[in-house]
Amino acid sequence: MITTSLENRVLTISFDRADKKNAITNEMYTAAEQMLLDSADNKDVRVVLFKGEGGNFTSGNDMAAFLSMSAIAEPPVLKFLLALARFPKPVVTAVNGLAIGIGTTMLAHCDYVVAADDVRFKMPFVDLGLCPEGGSSLLFPRFMGHALASELLILGDFFDAQKALQVGLVNKVASVDETLAQATKVATTLAAKPPAAVRNAKAMLKKEYLKELDQVVIDEIKQLCAMVTGEECQEALAAFAQKRAPDFSNF
Ligand code: COA
Repeated sequence: MITTSLENRVLTISFDRADKKNAITNEMYTAAEQMLLDSADNKDVRVVLFKGEGGNFTSGNDMAAFLSMSAIAEPPVLKFLLALARFPKPVVTAVNGLAIGIGTTMLAHCDYVVAADDVRFKMPFVDLGLCPEGGSSLLFPRFMGHALASELLILGDFFDAQKALQVGLVNKVASVDETLAQATKVATTLAAKPPAAVRNAKAMLKKEYLKELDQVVIDEIKQLCAMVTGEECQEALAAFAQKRAPDFSNF
């Protein structure tokens, strides 16, 4: 589930499903999307802070939820991603433990990210027979260059917080114990600044790519939904459910 708290005009949104490493279900996407939509016009919220409960940020999209995606015209993950990409106020994120799939790609939409030194990032889209999402096919090559983007998005190995810092995905690496406190400090500092000026600066920084980004986010999810029913993804999902390695040798 999604849990929230509001303090010092910072709305904290937590992925809270520790027994599944905070894998995000459709209900969780919808709840988080609604929080963002409500917060955009709520003067009591000046900054949103994302975090995960129980030692992990998130293990990404719930593996079972992939199957329902292709049957829905506008899947909850798409609505969440669009709300995040369009969100007019600063988004700060504290990442620890696992940050898989959307747990990594959503960071490109954040305005400040603190990563714990234990984070394991990974974007296993290709290994799942799927494609990049969250605007990563546009933003990652632009932010970090083609070589690194293809390494992270196509090879898709785990990478650590130092590498995330090096490629510009996060602002700062902290100890596990300090990560949330440091992210909260940044969020609280941002919330005390003149709010219209903060929003204006954020909009200016994103202006160059925001229109293009919307369409890329939509196109990626459309493509991903089409691939979910394909034999490669079906094999990957079956392998995960059966706790075995996938076998793509016959495709
Ligand atoms: N969706 C649904 N359930 C998930 C999940 C996900 N994305 N990630 C983990 N879980 C569940 C596991 O099935 C397991 O459930 P169980 O206890 O009922 O068997 C539980 O969370 C703990 O995960 P487990 O695999 O035992 O932990 P681990 O530390 O050995 O491995 C991961 C953790 C994240 C590396 C591994 O679970 C994994 O690869 N998950 C899938 C990640 C993924 O591909 N996400 C989609 C990205 S696009």
